[in-house]
Amino acid sequence: EVWNPNGKYRVISTKSMPGTRWIDLLVQQDCRVEICTLNKTILSVEDIIALIGDKCDGVIGQLTEDWGDTLFSALSKAGGKAFSNMAVGYNNVDVDAATKYGVAVGNTPGVLTETTAELAASLSLAAARRIVEADGFMRAGLYEGWLPHLFVGNLLKGQTVGVIGAGRIGSAYARMMVEGFKMNLIYYDLYQATRLEKFVTAYGQFLKANGEQPVTWKRASSMDEVLQEADVISLHPILDKTTYHLVNKERLSMMKKEAILVNCSRGPVVDEVALVEHLRENPMFRVGLDVFEDEPYMKPGLADMKNAVVVPHIASASKWTREGMATLAALNVLVDMRSLHINFFIIL
Ligand code: DGY
Repeated sequence: EVWNPNGKYRVISTKSMPGTRWIDLLVQQDCRVEICTLNKTILSVEDIIALIGDKCDGVIGQLTEDWGDTLFSALSKAGGKAFSNMAVGYNNVDVDAATKYGVAVGNTPGVLTETTAELAASLSLAAARRIVEADGFMRAGLYEGWLPHLFVGNLLKGQTVGVIGAGRIGSAYARMMVEGFKMNLIYYDLYQATRLEKFVTAYGQFLKANGEQPVTWKRASSMDEVLQEADVISLHPILDKTTYHLVNKERLSMMKKEAILVNCSRGPVVDEVALVEHLRENPMFRVGLDVFEDEPYMKPGLADMKNAVVVPHIASASKWTREGMATLAALNVLVDMRSLHINFFIIL
């Protein structure tokens, strides 16, 4: 699919993206926009090299693609100066290789913060109240009438939410859980989340002033402290060598038997084989997973676990956010192609 065929700059998007604002933005700045229409969910390195061809000024790519030495070399040979990942995470991008070939790399933070945090909150609730299990029960025609023991789950109010990685998304999630469900907070991060702490303190005072039990917060001195103390734990680190299998067999065994673990970051942050074993041995332990170690696959046994809620990497999948990510990805390419002077009022 080609837009503005006579545009001076050739920009490729490896996937069709939501909305048209991103296309308008590129076309207004004299780009010829080519959207790949290959009928494949995940493009291989060879597919992308063929797309880049002999002349390409910039590429908008996806987190499912392997942007390493081979692709940046091909892009640079074709005159490319910019690569934009339509994601906040960029563990699929070798930034050193891009730098070596003079290609600037962009990502799309900010626009997905609340949407991603909302999914982490949804998974927390779905796991706590066994919503998916109960839904399956209804659809299977098994409901015979109200019973005192039917799908009894966890009450969040007054429990402790644990956040590992209190950056933009982790902090937004923490705020939702504290304000929405009056949970206490414990978090672990290398940096202090001052704004989040101020918010929880002020909210605690507000509750107290209204005669309600105030919420509390604590910055943990280790990740293990969060795992041991929290009732619901949400993971928000980036994926790199230091966070690979951050949650392993040993750490799973530190958590409360009835804890809930939520992962909307990257699959390999959790040792999924160990997780399946832990879920099997601890039926009251629950997880909400948006990401998996070997996407699009799940480790054997996970799909059979009633105490797991699993969704296909949709944390940023709201219309507003996906259009925003596409727009930001286009903007990154324009800025990084450097020769362009952008009128920011067009965008705002
Ligand atoms: C990201 O942006 O990194 C998410 O995983 C997809 O939105």
